[in-house]
Amino acid sequence: MLEQLSYNNSKIHFGDLQTVGLNEVLQNEYPDAKKIILTDETVGSIWIEQLVTSHSQLSKAEIIQIPEGEAFKTIDVCAQIWEALSEYEIGRGDVIINFGGGVITDMGGFIASLYKRGLSFINIPTTLLSQVDASVGGKTGVDLGPFKNQIGVFSDAAHVFIDDQFLKTLDEKQLQSGLAEMLKHGLISDPSHWKDLQSFDPSNPKGRLKLIRTSVKIKRDVVVQDHKESGVRKTLNFGHTIGHGIEGFLLEKETPTLHGFAVAWGMKAESFIAYKQGLLSQTAYESIAAFIDTYYPKCEIESKDFKAILKLMYNDKKNKNGHIQFSFISEIGKGIYDQGATDVEILDALKTLID
Ligand SMILES: NC(=O)c1ccc[n+]([C@@H]2O[C@H](COP(=O)([O-])OP(=O)(O)OC[C@H]3O[C@@H](n4cnc5c(N)ncnc54)[C@H](O)[C@@H]3O)[C@@H](O)[C@H]2O)c1
Repeated sequence: MLEQLSYNNSKIHFGDLQTVGLNEVLQNEYPDAKKIILTDETVGSIWIEQLVTSHSQLSKAEIIQIPEGEAFKTIDVCAQIWEALSEYEIGRGDVIINFGGGVITDMGGFIASLYKRGLSFINIPTTLLSQVDASVGGKTGVDLGPFKNQIGVFSDAAHVFIDDQFLKTLDEKQLQSGLAEMLKHGLISDPSHWKDLQSFDPSNPKGRLKLIRTSVKIKRDVVVQDHKESGVRKTLNFGHTIGHGIEGFLLEKETPTLHGFAVAWGMKAESFIAYKQGLLSQTAYESIAAFIDTYYPKCEIESKDFKAILKLMYNDKKNKNGHIQFSFISEIGKGIYDQGATDVEILDALKTLID
């Protein structure tokens, strides 16, 4: 069994849910609590029965199922769920189990943290992206129109259970999407992780959980130093300034892309800016660009979209005094933050995505 990780009051377990003891945790820590499982329609239809029948503590759980996808990560959906919690007479001592991808863990954590000023919640992430990133670190929230994660709070899951058996029903594109956040972890802090990932096939379970744990550990190690993102945690935003601009733009156009694809394109474009500014070597930029170009599809934007994407980037919550703030890398394995770029540099970087 892979060793558990922890930070603040959050414990992260790796492995089969029964082996690592989900039922025991529920029994020991929430003996009299009502259990609510929040999931989406896809995960619900594939996995909920197995989850409930294999854990006696969940046999009476109430299940709230929402439509799948980023378009439902909104405050309106939260309001409907808060009403449902109220109807189920959920109180402070009860527990919410977020069972799904990053949309569910982001939104479920947010819902739990605000309802009656805060309920405990447990994350059981079922996508690679939510296992390596979204379910860990305490960022919870929802989108506001095209603006990603504009409404949210820092709040940690009491437990995160990472079981990679769920990935066997995840499609190839979603696995590619999750890999982007793993690549980011390697690029900002661990060259050997980046190297290992070059030959990693996320659909092959052999050795997969170990690599997932390495990624989570990198994130955990950053988050323990700077939970509320006033310093080093900003390095985790590498690729996300341009990435969120593209993701928000495509969401608004009703042609949404996958979060990890946007992050991969963002990492390529932001590496280009770092290279042009003399912060990153040409060799490092070219090796990142080559991997992203080979592994990911072409970015789904055109040059006529650049202005709208730039405009969205000016609304990024990380900006300071009207200036867009970037997190770059200065070498493979070294993230840097609080970096600037001119509009011309950003537009040139976007061009690398469509050439
Ligand atoms: N809080 C954070 O630190 C953080 C970090 C990274 C990303 N995020 C957020 O995470 C979200 C993206 O997460 P995501 O990519 O997991 O998206 P998602 O939750 O929309 O899941 C992707 C799709 O996979 C399906 N799915 C989930 N598990 C499955 C399984 N085991 N088998 C088959 N289908 C399955 C879902 O129904 C959905 O259609 C974005 O909203 C992003 O902003 C948050």
